[in-house]
Amino acid sequence: MTTKSTIASMMNLKDQCNGTLDMAKLNEGKKCDSEVLPESVLDIWMTIPADIRSALSSTEKGLTMSKSHLTLSDQTYDTSPATISTASKQSMPLSSGTSLISSSSSEKSSSDDCIIRTTDEHGQRVLLAPLERAPNNVFTFSKSSDSGADGSNLSMCGTAKGWRNVFTLPISYDVNMIPQGSLLDISNPQLLQATGNHPPEYNKRFAAVDNIVYELYGSKIKKYFASRNIDLTICVVAGGEAEKRPEAVDKVLDALCEYKLLRREPFLAIGGGVLLDIAGMAACLYRRGVPFVRVPTTLLAIVDASVGVKNGVDYCCQLTKESYKNRVGSFYSPSSVLLDSSFIKSQDARNISNGFGEIVKLALVRSSDLFELLEAHGTALVESRFQSHPSVPKGVSDRIIEVSIQIMLEELGPNLWEKKLDRCVDYGHTFSKLIEMVPGADIMHGEAVNIDGFFCVILSFNRGWISWDTVQRIFNCMKSMNLPTNIISFDSELAWQSCKDAIEHRNGAQRIPLIQDIGKSVCVSDITQEELDAA
Ligand SMILES: NC(=O)c1ccc[n+]([C@@H]2O[C@H](COP(=O)([O-])OP(=O)(O)OC[C@H]3O[C@@H](n4cnc5c(N)ncnc54)[C@H](O)[C@@H]3O)[C@@H](O)[C@H]2O)c1
Ligand SMILES: [Zn+2]
Repeated sequence: MTTKSTIASMMNLKDQCNGTLDMAKLNEGKKCDSEVLPESVLDIWMTIPADIRSALSSTEKGLTMSKSHLTLSDQTYDTSPATISTASKQSMPLSSGTSLISSSSSEKSSSDDCIIRTTDEHGQRVLLAPLERAPNNVFTFSKSSDSGADGSNLSMCGTAKGWRNVFTLPISYDVNMIPQGSLLDISNPQLLQATGNHPPEYNKRFAAVDNIVYELYGSKIKKYFASRNIDLTICVVAGGEAEKRPEAVDKVLDALCEYKLLRREPFLAIGGGVLLDIAGMAACLYRRGVPFVRVPTTLLAIVDASVGVKNGVDYCCQLTKESYKNRVGSFYSPSSVLLDSSFIKSQDARNISNGFGEIVKLALVRSSDLFELLEAHGTALVESRFQSHPSVPKGVSDRIIEVSIQIMLEELGPNLWEKKLDRCVDYGHTFSKLIEMVPGADIMHGEAVNIDGFFCVILSFNRGWISWDTVQRIFNCMKSMNLPTNIISFDSELAWQSCKDAIEHRNGAQRIPLIQDIGKSVCVSDITQEELDAA
């Protein structure tokens, strides 16, 4: 996104620097050698898309902004390429299909509007001009009537004028590591603080809580709020994959309506991945979006489901009677995340192993160090329910959580909306979807991810990318945490169907992550049915 004001401030800056700004360095977000720029200017600069930045840098010499009266009326919307290249206006040639049109400096006016020249996906020329009252977001566009690069003509395509709306969502939330066991401590204000700033007389709060968490920690949660004279309304929602359905979202929505949650009032979501996914969807829908705070209570939710911006439920189509995992949902960020790993101690061993399924995945694709921690301490941590254990050095459990979350965030950050579909964090998530959906299958998400992950290890071995020793090492590590590596229902038909589903889900290509070593992954799209059968 660019704005006339941003560009103008860059130009002012350039004036101040007597033209010595090194735009190439600015493009990399670095300060010029000759000038010390305010951080705020650098921040603004880096919010401008790369192509516009490169446009500015490539037109550095003599560039000034001109006033361009652009409205949607034919009289004032001067878009003819011939006009643009008259002596009084210069069309700046740009590197990547985008240019700025400016007047000569003698024509510089009091206003600093600018037109952006670009091309659309059909190769047609497009002129964009910011609207006076929303220069950051709304641009009138006009497309030239020349034939496009693909031979198409605008008179055929119909739309020559319109508005381009450019909005960016300000997404920022903290994932807080809370000292183990202190979140529900009455003296710790963090849980209450996360529910927002309210006047003292506003003495109620809302929480959606997993049913088992409610049984185990309900009285502690209530006591925490009661000690601060807060009346807590709790909506209890059943956890477990079978409960992850639209009806559960309805239940939370009903409770939110009854409670009359305010538009800006964050509510708490306390539970495993299922509760968090359900609550996140309700938060996204209620009043078209209200803030919510994630408090994950399972290992899997701590290292995975609470970290990103996705939510959703499984869906059964009433027409085909087919069920689909996570078919209905949204990208919607929490207002904050509060991680207290002491919740894990009440999980049973199988659920903890299940959480390790996602951690092994992260280790395989991104971190041999994390893998070594799992090899050395996985067994003891399952036994100790992830709490301190005589054979596990202090800090190891926190370290495993920290590294896992950091890998997740590093992978998600530059690709929050999953525009790029070659994602290493999808390792173990190609075949697992169908493995989990087999009717009557007694299989948990992290377990299915592990079965899929080990199958992919074999595919890597068969391609000659990893040694048999590495396969053995991975197998032993998985087994040391009681993770399954195969299941009877996973046959070659399911495997091939999974590949076809992946092609549909990942925009026309398999994009299946495989490993080339422990901690090193690559996405492939050329897996054949024979290759699957051989594995
Ligand atoms: N949104 C995302 O980005 C994302 C990422 C990964 C996984 N997920 C989803 O997360 C789900 C799996 O999460 P999960 O493994 O936490 O399952 P879950 O939420 O069903 O929890 C497992 C079981 O543990 C119980 N439980 C929760 N906390 C407990 C505690 N502290 N002590 C004892 N029991 C407790 C629950 O009631 C449930 O019966 C899947 O549906 C998966 O699709 C979502
Ligand atoms: Zn997963």
